[in-house]
Amino acid sequence: MCGIVGAIAERNVSAILLEGLKRLEYRGYDSAGIAVYTQQQQLQRVRRTGKVAELAQALQTEPLNGQIGIAHTRWATHGVPSEANAHPHFSSTELAVVHNGIIENYQELRSELQAQGYVFTSQTDTETIVHLLHHLQKTQHDLLDALRIAVTQLHGAYGLALISAKQPDRIFAARSGSPLVIGLGIGENFLASDPLALRQVTDRFIYLEEGDIAVIERDKLQIWDEQNKPVQRDAVQYLDQAESAEKGSYRHFMLKEIYEQPQAVQRTLEDRLAADHVLPAAFGPDASTLFAKVKKIQIVACGTSYHAGMVARYWLEGLTNTPCQVEVASEFRYRHVAVQPDTLFVTISQSGETADTLAALRHRQDNAYLASLTICNVGTSSLVRESDLALLTRAGPEIGVASTKAFSTQLVGLLLLTLAIGRARHTLAPAQEREIVDALRTLSAKLNDALAISATIEAKAQLFAEKNHALFLGRGEQFPVALEGALKLKEISYIHAEAYPAGELKHGPLALVDSDMPVVTVAPNNALLEKLKSNLQEVSARGGQLLVFADREAHLSEDEQTQVVNMPSIHPVLAPILYTIPLQLLSYYVAVLKGTDVDQPRNLAKSVTVE
Ligand code: G6P
Repeated sequence: MCGIVGAIAERNVSAILLEGLKRLEYRGYDSAGIAVYTQQQQLQRVRRTGKVAELAQALQTEPLNGQIGIAHTRWATHGVPSEANAHPHFSSTELAVVHNGIIENYQELRSELQAQGYVFTSQTDTETIVHLLHHLQKTQHDLLDALRIAVTQLHGAYGLALISAKQPDRIFAARSGSPLVIGLGIGENFLASDPLALRQVTDRFIYLEEGDIAVIERDKLQIWDEQNKPVQRDAVQYLDQAESAEKGSYRHFMLKEIYEQPQAVQRTLEDRLAADHVLPAAFGPDASTLFAKVKKIQIVACGTSYHAGMVARYWLEGLTNTPCQVEVASEFRYRHVAVQPDTLFVTISQSGETADTLAALRHRQDNAYLASLTICNVGTSSLVRESDLALLTRAGPEIGVASTKAFSTQLVGLLLLTLAIGRARHTLAPAQEREIVDALRTLSAKLNDALAISATIEAKAQLFAEKNHALFLGRGEQFPVALEGALKLKEISYIHAEAYPAGELKHGPLALVDSDMPVVTVAPNNALLEKLKSNLQEVSARGGQLLVFADREAHLSEDEQTQVVNMPSIHPVLAPILYTIPLQLLSYYVAVLKGTDVDQPRNLAKSVTVE
């Protein structure tokens, strides 16, 4: 959860770098630093733990003046948050590097470099990169060749920027699994992990692609692809500020946030995936060892986040054979829980400040749990600060009270947790792990496909505008998706909505079904589809109106009582994430038809910090 900024200009770059860091702060940080090749013709750095404001203050007393520099906000993975672990890292006073991501084989590299006489001053994986480059440079023509060799030796994920006191007219950059974007100026150029960091200096960007290496000069830019072939990458003009707290061209924040999901999900995955597995260090430095000890998982959350936890239970038990319990925090916090040995305590929260969830974390029978982990969207929140391990969901600011992109990114985070647990416990077959990792890489595109059917869903919203009740059905991991769909509808349109596991229909709710009770069903083609079809027959036979979301492989046909919306096909494990989208859109369009206050529904709050 780190941020990179770099700049080369004719003017002093310190202020540009600092402003860039401030703009990246929302992603979470625990320390920050900046290195500049100064007018005294040496590499100098200032680093501080805490907020970027601390760094800014330090720069008041120790100003760095120079025309080339790199900067970083850090979210600790390897090594505690401290000044020594903060980036930029140096090799002698010659090279400085900033890095996002995780280097998995850093221990081996570190030992080899120590044997060569390199002295490490931090516990980070990043410091191995800079010493490795320094070492390789001795036998190579120049730093670019050293970098080309270094990237073949780094396993894991990285986005990195490098400057050298010997070549103070260029920034070197490399990307693999962690994004980097070059900002184009006139007679000056920039680099960042997120274009947001550079919006104050440019609106033209070139996104580096996987495996790219770049050399950025003041008035020249060279990029080489994975095969070391020189390439031209197209520049894009940044039109809209996706992450700003403004609606832009959208009528409501909720709609904007629904549409941000493909990018949000992509960000949640960034620098957390190796070729065929999830990088466990994404959860914290000791996660790998700790996950191997996990025998059980207890998830605690509220509202939408609780529904995400319910989906995760199907994944954790179904894919990794790890027993998992999920409970709403307001109940959990007040009851005696019989804790099994080696249980991992997991909280899920958008805000990280929800009173009940926080109380559950604080009041849990402390020593009874192996460790605490939070899946959270706010890096500076209490839940993140007070948990042993954390995975930030990177949804960006969510303004609409009804949670949308926070939910889908929580699901992605929980699937990453599932895969990491399965790997550490050796309960997930490597082939299946690889298959899911591959599918995750296409998830963002699939979500775009689902968003493309928005007009069809808008038309279906008419079915609900005059109704007072609705029923949502799903089976298996689609049951929590149905619960979340019902919650969205009731939150913003005030229509009474209930969700049931479809098999429970005949045990009560079927009595409510008539032509005034629309029944929404999520029906991807999975092992439970045939069972679900029988449940749908039960509804039709009672005159109920069905709206079914299904892929073509489900072979569901329309009739007078049944309307089918075709969904893109998707790997079954990822289906809960995809099928959430049409239910969000449906509730949104129903609320618009009803003229309710979509973004601030009555009686509800975005963050419930009181009991
Ligand atoms: C409130 C919000 C919900 C959210 C819940 C839990 O009820 O309106 O959207 O799901 O709190 O919040 P958290 O921030 O812990 O996810």
